[in-house]
Amino acid sequence: MNFQLTEEHLAVQEAAREFAQSELLPGVIDRDSEAKFPHEQIKKMGDLGFLGMMVDPKYNGGGMDTISYVIAMEELSKIDASASVSMSVNNSLVCWGLEKYGSEEQKQKYLTRLATGEILGAFCLSEPEAGSDATSQRTSAEWNGDHYVLNGTKNWITNGSTASVYLVIAQTDASKGHKGISVFLVEKGWEGFVIGKKEDKLGIRGSDTHSLMFTDVKVPAENRIGEEGFGFTFAMETLNGGRIGIAAQALGIASGAYELALAYSKERKAFGKPISQHQAIQFKLADMATQIEAARLLVYKAAWLKDQGEDYAHASAMAKLYASEVAMNVTVEAVQVHGGYGYVKEYHVERLMRDAKITQIYEGTSEIQRIVISRGILK
Ligand code: CAA
Ligand code: FAD
Repeated sequence: MNFQLTEEHLAVQEAAREFAQSELLPGVIDRDSEAKFPHEQIKKMGDLGFLGMMVDPKYNGGGMDTISYVIAMEELSKIDASASVSMSVNNSLVCWGLEKYGSEEQKQKYLTRLATGEILGAFCLSEPEAGSDATSQRTSAEWNGDHYVLNGTKNWITNGSTASVYLVIAQTDASKGHKGISVFLVEKGWEGFVIGKKEDKLGIRGSDTHSLMFTDVKVPAENRIGEEGFGFTFAMETLNGGRIGIAAQALGIASGAYELALAYSKERKAFGKPISQHQAIQFKLADMATQIEAARLLVYKAAWLKDQGEDYAHASAMAKLYASEVAMNVTVEAVQVHGGYGYVKEYHVERLMRDAKITQIYEGTSEIQRIVISRGILK
């Protein structure tokens, strides 16, 4: 067993850290206040290869392992979780699913541009009546002899207005339940495809979360990924990897808040000494550091299993469950360490606390991760 990062991993970490400080930090408070999507920053992330890190170089990707990806996710999420969720969706939901299960034509047409960030992708599973209960898909794709006709509404879609291509999960044969669900590549601008209003959120306010409406949208047969009925398996397998990305995001939010709290505790004086000299603060820092280290080990283990080609469904659920709970605990404590200053925007920790909450909800709530984990234990 080796707990050391390789030279390549350290180089990715350094590049991501430098990018986060120089490009994401400036303006992050304003983008949060104004709920402004980080367009310029995402463009630069694409130029630097952060949007298709694990994609094979023959499709313009970085050809890197999952460990590199989680390292970069952690560093970027320390500063701007709105930017990192776009990165996570593009890398581990859209590019991964397309590379693993798409046809060569689909990869040439879409993946080559998604991997560079020339275009962004979105992953559309959730609906108004189907969030955790994802098999209850109402969106339908009916075959009319020449093409599919897509009807329905998707909710809460990340990159909802900024994406150019959408992986849409839809029912093609309701009589077969989840085995009658399929997945399609749908392009922005197709007739009948309308993007709803942007959601006004508690956290990750820069991220563009939208509902999407499909009314009689024509989808060509060549835009179906895999066979009819493969869509739910596609979604679940894709989410197994996506959850590693969100776990890394949660880890980054936690470690960003911890680093700020640690530095602040050495500067702020109360009762004649730095607050870091008070045992109550020391114990908070000790708990934060321990929880973060444990979360990092779970995240790296899940990424490592994926890289080894082993089953990682339960490891990714454990990593997401634990890291997201750590993100919430640590950010609340980081605000506490900052006292009143933690409650205002200038000190960043209140934003990290608001951003942390979503990691317990999307890509499967903490309750759903516990279902996935317990089914694995009990089967
Ligand atoms: N990996 C692989 N296959 C899985 C799986 C997993 N993690 N979880 C379930 N499956 C398979 C099951 O094996 C089963 O297949 P078979 O019938 O062929 O055996 C099939 O899926 C149905 O599973 P269940 O019978 O367990 O169905 P269920 O309805 O009882 O539970 C669920 C399914 C696990 C709760 C699932 O609906 C789920 O994961 N829900 C959460 C949805 C979710 O994570 N949404 C995220 C949306 S994307 C997003 O959020 C992006 C973002 O924010 C940035
Ligand atoms: P519900 O499923 O209604 O759950 C409500 C509560 O009940 C939760 O606490 C849940 O854990 C609990 N619950 C439900 N069922 C059970 C059960 N069986 N046992 C115990 N507890 C249960 N989706 C996408 O498809 N693509 C995206 O890009 C995307 N991005 C998102 C971005 C944001 C900012 C948000 C808020 C959501 C996003 N989602 C996206 C949707 C997200 O995945 C869902 O919100 C999530 O899966 C929960 O679904 P729900 O909101 O319908 O809650």
